[in-house]
Amino acid sequence: MQSTPNLEQFVPDEVTKLAYQGFQEGKKVFGFLHKQISDRLTNTVVPEQGSKSTPLSPEVFEKLQVRLKSLEEKDWKDAKNGVYPNSLLFDNPWSDFFRYYPELCLDMVKIWGRLQKKEYQKFDDKIDRVGYPDYYLQNFHYQTDGYLSDMSANLYDLQVEILFNGAADAMRRRILAPLKQGLGAFAALPPQQIKVLDVACGTGRTLRMLRGTLPKASLFGTDLSPAYLRKANQMLSEISGELPQLLQSNAESLPYLDNYFHGLTSVFLFHELPAPARQAVINEAFRVLQPGGVLVICDSIQATDSPDFAEMMNNFPAIFHEPYYRHYTTDNLEDRLTEAGFINLQVENHFVSKYWTAYKPVV
Ligand SMILES: C[S@@+](CC[C@H](N)C(=O)[O-])C[C@H]1O[C@@H](n2cnc3c(N)ncnc32)[C@H](O)[C@@H]1O
Repeated sequence: MQSTPNLEQFVPDEVTKLAYQGFQEGKKVFGFLHKQISDRLTNTVVPEQGSKSTPLSPEVFEKLQVRLKSLEEKDWKDAKNGVYPNSLLFDNPWSDFFRYYPELCLDMVKIWGRLQKKEYQKFDDKIDRVGYPDYYLQNFHYQTDGYLSDMSANLYDLQVEILFNGAADAMRRRILAPLKQGLGAFAALPPQQIKVLDVACGTGRTLRMLRGTLPKASLFGTDLSPAYLRKANQMLSEISGELPQLLQSNAESLPYLDNYFHGLTSVFLFHELPAPARQAVINEAFRVLQPGGVLVICDSIQATDSPDFAEMMNNFPAIFHEPYYRHYTTDNLEDRLTEAGFINLQVENHFVSKYWTAYKPVV
C-alpha cells in the first residue's frame, strides 16, 4: 500500500504559523462582519432587541483582542510541540460552511418571528419531544428547533464559529494538553485500551480533535440530540482511524459501567444546564471514570474570572436565549467537583472560556 507523504515536514514552521494566523484572521473578519450585519438587521426588524444589550467599550474590545492573540499563540505552540498535529489547526468543515451559509441567513427570518412573539420553546410539530428533560426543550440561541432537527445540526458549527469570531475550535483545543497529561497516568497500557468519552459531543468537533490527538484510543461520544449525533457520525466518518462509538443519552445518567473511562471531556455543556443537572453530570463523570482518570471541562468564563467582561457576560443571555447562563456564571464548579469526590483541581482561562481539570483519586 502506498503511504501518504507527510507534507508538514517540508513546510518551515514560520510558513505554517503565518498560514494559521491568516486562517484565524479570515474567520475573525468573517464572523465580525456577519454579526455586524445580522445585528443591524435584527435591531431594525425587532427594535427592542437592540436595547437589551450594553455596547462594549473600546477598552474591553482591546482586552478581548489581546486574549484572542494569546489563545492563538498557545494553540500554535501546542501544535508545534506535538500535543496535536498541525493539521488540526486548519481543520474546518468548509463544504458545510459554504453549503449552509445561505440557510443560516434565511433562518434569521424565523428567528425574528420567534423574537417578536417571545417564543423560546418552539419546535416543529413533527419533532418528537417525548423523553427529554424540560430544561433541554429550548430554542437555545433562538436556534430553530433547538437541538432537535437535522437543519439545526447542519447550521450549528457555522453559528458557533461566527459567535466566537472563528475561535471556537482554538478554545476547544485547550482541553487537549491537560487531557493528554492526565492520561499519562495510564502510559503503561497499550494506546488502544485507553478509553475517552466526550459528553454532550454535539456534532463531533471535539471528537475529531481527540482522534487527531489520540489516534489509537477508543473514543466515545454521547449527546441527547439524535440529529446532532447523526451529524457527528457523518463528520467523523470522513476522517481516518476507528470511528468513535456514539450513543444517545442524558449526561445526567450515562449508560456505562462504573470505573470505565480513563479520560472524559465536555465542551460548552455546563452553561446550558440548570444547577442540579450540572451536579448530576459531574457525579456521573466521577462514577464512570477509572480511579486516576481525568476529567476536563471547557465552558464560558465566569463572573469572578474577568470583572472587565461583566457587560459581555450580561449581554450574552440578554441577546441569546440562554436561560441557565446567568446562574452558571456565578456557580462554583470547583465546589461541585470536590463534592463529587474529584481531587487535584486545576482551573484556567483562555480567551472567553474556562477550563477545569480534575482527577478521580486512586484508591
Ligand atoms: C452548546 S452545545 C456543545 C456541543 C459540543 N460539545 C461543542 O463543542 O460544540 C451543547 C450540547 O449539549 C447537548 N446537551 C444539552 N443537555 C444535555 C444533556 N442533559 N445530556 C446530553 N447532552 C446534552 C446538546 O444536545 C448539545 O449538543
